[in-house]
Amino acid sequence: MSVLFSPVTIGGVELSNRIAVSPMCQYSAFDGCASDWHIAHLGMLANSGAGLVVVEATHVERHGRISHGCLGLYSDDNEAALRRVIDHCRRHGTAKLGVQLAHAGRKASSQRPWDGGQALRPDEDPWETIGPSPLPFGDGWHVPRMATLDDIARVREAFVSAAERAVRIGFDAIELHYAHGYLAHSFLSPVSNHRADRYGGSLENRMRFGREIAQAVRAAVPKEIALGARITGSDWCDGGLTVDDAGAFAKALRSDGLDYIDVSSGSLIASARNPTSPGYNVPLAERVKREAGLPTRTVGLILTPAQAEAIVAEGKADMVALARGMLDDPRWGWHAAQALGAEVARVPQYFRAGPKLWTPPALRKA
Ligand SMILES: Cc1cc2nc3c(=O)[nH]c(=O)nc-3n(C[C@H](O)[C@H](O)[C@H](O)COP(=O)(O)O)c2cc1C
Repeated sequence: MSVLFSPVTIGGVELSNRIAVSPMCQYSAFDGCASDWHIAHLGMLANSGAGLVVVEATHVERHGRISHGCLGLYSDDNEAALRRVIDHCRRHGTAKLGVQLAHAGRKASSQRPWDGGQALRPDEDPWETIGPSPLPFGDGWHVPRMATLDDIARVREAFVSAAERAVRIGFDAIELHYAHGYLAHSFLSPVSNHRADRYGGSLENRMRFGREIAQAVRAAVPKEIALGARITGSDWCDGGLTVDDAGAFAKALRSDGLDYIDVSSGSLIASARNPTSPGYNVPLAERVKREAGLPTRTVGLILTPAQAEAIVAEGKADMVALARGMLDDPRWGWHAAQALGAEVARVPQYFRAGPKLWTPPALRKA
């Protein structure tokens, strides 16, 4: 019996298996509004065999977007556009649907990766960014304005308002993006946060920004919707966050009412590099899971069905997420089920590709 393909409950939501499609920015939105690209992309991934698809970083305010092409949930138009996509995925797909809410902080106002992925130039309609301290992400990046207490309160309310929009759209899960160097992560890390007020200094103070958002969003999101956060397990740089900090943060978020944690890592400063070994975040997730006692997902170079199965079967994490592997093989979940002798839901239009009627060439005996 495959553990990967056994159901799991996060908060009030039961998922049919332990595979998630990791959130992936598509840089294909217009003033935060999802486009036909999202219909095609998310419609495809809703039929990947994963129990959960998490929509890309969706920004809570216009100036919180990473790029001009990033999704948002800061306007009625954004809400209507995303609703159209999610209605489509629900009608024509098998996965439950989550959304990642984000504010890019000092990494906002940047180019799409295929335009260079650097800070927007003066002729590219850049905007002012905010961060915990006036420290840039790296050389050539915008120096953020130090967030005032008014900025902090406004961003918190923007997270609540975006979460309310996500609830109205009908998402099954809402995930707070507290990793990858964006605003909440940059408040948590002592490398990017040099503040002397109650949002800086001790770990307790650096956690305050993320915790206040988590508490406010939880109060606005019914218990039937799973609320989680993607956090960093390591900054992979001197003086940065470690897995001890991640464990403490996850524990605090649990007491703030979160239902699950996803452990990622890195991307706080431009010069740091993530490890490149398979499952590099798994040991971090294992520690965080033990310390926080919350359902835990992890991500990062999880590639093969056997590897994914071992991670959950050995109790290192409760769920796995895949990003690039799902772009490469958008039926990864189907193929994993076949390899592990498990069942996976298919839409009726695709029944004839199911294992009872069809064996893919790679699995045929010579
Ligand atoms: C095209 C692309 C876009 C991404 N966008 C996001 C995002 O919106 N939010 C996020 O938390 N991570 C994002 N990531 C990171 C992935 O979710 C994932 O954590 C990372 O790629 C490692 O997983 P993998 O080895 O399975 O690709 C993105 C990755 C890719 C490849």
